[in-house]
Amino acid sequence: MPGLFVSFEGGEGSGKSTQITRLATRLQALGHDPLVTREPGGTPLAESIRGLLLQAAPAPGPMTEVLLMIAARSDLVSTTIRPALAAGRVVLCDRYTDSTLAYQGAGRGLESSMLVQWNRAATQGLTPGLTLLFDVSPELGLARRARAAGTANRLDLEPEAFHDRVRARYLELAEAEPERFVVLDAALSPEQLETAVWAAVALRLAPATGARSVV
Ligand code: TMP
Repeated sequence: MPGLFVSFEGGEGSGKSTQITRLATRLQALGHDPLVTREPGGTPLAESIRGLLLQAAPAPGPMTEVLLMIAARSDLVSTTIRPALAAGRVVLCDRYTDSTLAYQGAGRGLESSMLVQWNRAATQGLTPGLTLLFDVSPELGLARRARAAGTANRLDLEPEAFHDRVRARYLELAEAEPERFVVLDAALSPEQLETAVWAAVALRLAPATGARSVV
């Protein structure tokens, strides 16, 4: 039986990581064995790539940056996400293909159709059954990150206009695929968000048929 694949997307400081932890705890309490993972990262190889991508220097150019993201994704999907879904598990992934479209597409200005093709190559068409978009204004998100001292990465340091473009692209992506996306207002309290997250996930858990292939 295929599992359920849920991706978590949003700008910096949107609170998605907190919600992943809470959702995983709730799923475990119900007897599920969720796989919690993240991008870039989630495997030894992809975590090494993450280190290269998020370190302050040397900074990769836009094309090198996206190719490293795609390489990390390919490793995570083939070695970890696909086997977990095949075993019927719920997979919670902190960022996935939409991050590339928002950050490297809108943020860096790389061509969308090329990114869509590379995403498809890296994932072999594996699309989440549900994508939770934590929509947050860059002003609030970056202020939250600044308060959480020491958590800023190289992309957090991009100017606010970059983060505005990322947010706008995320909202366009959500509008284009209303069945896959649920947009959440990340300015809500963690408790309110947890309730909204659970409502969206519970709907798709029974029957858990969330992983679909769109090759
Ligand atoms: P975070 O997961 O802690 O937010 O850090 C990951 C950073 O990597 C974040 O700034 C978004 C960025 N990113 C991309 O630019 N493109 C991608 O495809 C992915 C997965 C992440």
